[in-house]
Amino acid sequence: MNYDDFFRSKIDAIRNEGRYRYFLDLNRHCGAYPKGTHRTDGKPKEITIWCSNDYLCMGQHEKVTTAMKNAIDAVGAGTGGTRNISGTTSYHVDLEKKLADLHHKEKALVFTSGYVSNSTTLETLGRMTGCHFFSDKLNHASMIEGIRHSGCQKHIYRHLDMAHLVELISQLDYDTPKIIATESVYSMEGDVAPLADIVDIARRYNALVYLDEVHAVGLYGYNGGGIAEREGVMEEIDIIEATLAKGFGVMGGYIASRDAIVDSVRSYANGFIFTTSLPPAVMAGALASVEYVSSNNNLRIKLQEQAQKLRQRFVEAKLPILLNDTHIVPLMVCNAVLCRKLSDILRQDFGHYAQPINFPTVPKGEERLRFTPTPFHTDEMIDDLVESVVDVWKLLDLPFVRYNQTDITIEIAKNYVMP
Ligand SMILES: Cc1ncc(COP(=O)(O)O)c(C=O)c1O
Repeated sequence: MNYDDFFRSKIDAIRNEGRYRYFLDLNRHCGAYPKGTHRTDGKPKEITIWCSNDYLCMGQHEKVTTAMKNAIDAVGAGTGGTRNISGTTSYHVDLEKKLADLHHKEKALVFTSGYVSNSTTLETLGRMTGCHFFSDKLNHASMIEGIRHSGCQKHIYRHLDMAHLVELISQLDYDTPKIIATESVYSMEGDVAPLADIVDIARRYNALVYLDEVHAVGLYGYNGGGIAEREGVMEEIDIIEATLAKGFGVMGGYIASRDAIVDSVRSYANGFIFTTSLPPAVMAGALASVEYVSSNNNLRIKLQEQAQKLRQRFVEAKLPILLNDTHIVPLMVCNAVLCRKLSDILRQDFGHYAQPINFPTVPKGEERLRFTPTPFHTDEMIDDLVESVVDVWKLLDLPFVRYNQTDITIEIAKNYVMP
């Protein structure tokens, strides 16, 4: 085999489908989000960023950056060890305590990323219990990987389809160990799992509930504890998993659960045990962020307001978006090549940046631009974006759509205003 030819042919196949991934060389401007500069042909170009998962811009918040700088000055850059071998600092301990409190759980455990926390926790729980997994069809790659590596039997239910979940789970004995694995906010659709129903089904059929709140933590619930907090079911969820990298704007992942479960993962999970712990500065920044975000509900209100404005403007412009009531606004292009073209022209000619999302992140034929407006995207930016998208949409001869309702105002405030 000529290895290079082999690998080039694999890349060519992706290129021919229009889904080769180009990374944008992009620096955000600290203190001026959502503005950033990207280099194109060696020259800087200023753009407005619409696709960051730093949903509240906490990655640039002064409290976060100051905490990180102070930690570096106090204890240096890295830990020099795994958590077990000299790599646990007071920063790790304090952050885990705060995360456990945020989710009303006995314990929390930090991992190097949200991806690792999902894959290693699900793999470990499955390997230890020999359970059957019940997994939503659109669950994230990290959950799928963990379930697969556990070697356990898995049952995939249709996205958010509770009748299908019941149909599958009811076929097993009450005493057979089972875990239902779901996300709360689905990141590419922006829809939300019916957590109260899932909890109810889990209790009826004696299953554990594993919930990924990666795209909800910091953003929903009066204290930013996620959709489980908003829906009042936090106590009923057995294991909550989330990230420190999106709503909290830093890096790392974690689980929060009962002592026996967290201690088991801590003691048996290879992806936790055999890796150097995250730098103290990252833990310090994350703690500062969680403290700030959990006590500033106005951030969540503003986030939802701006998302709702953008959604409303897209609907008025007859552009095909997925309707939901979260902070994620997916614009459906449904063609990989045109999706890239739309993104390129918007960035190059209009200065708006939204990365094309294609297979395998979404199914082929469902390519989209995923907009994530933040509290820092102004009304003027939103107007300018929508006008620009309409211009390029016409240029590419993409179809406009008709909505049955033109006013899609959704009651967004109810869970953000009152404690
Ligand atoms: C649903 C979901 N879970 C987990 C992850 C991984 O989180 P992290 O970026 O912290 O690795 C992602 C990443 O985008 C995600 O979308």
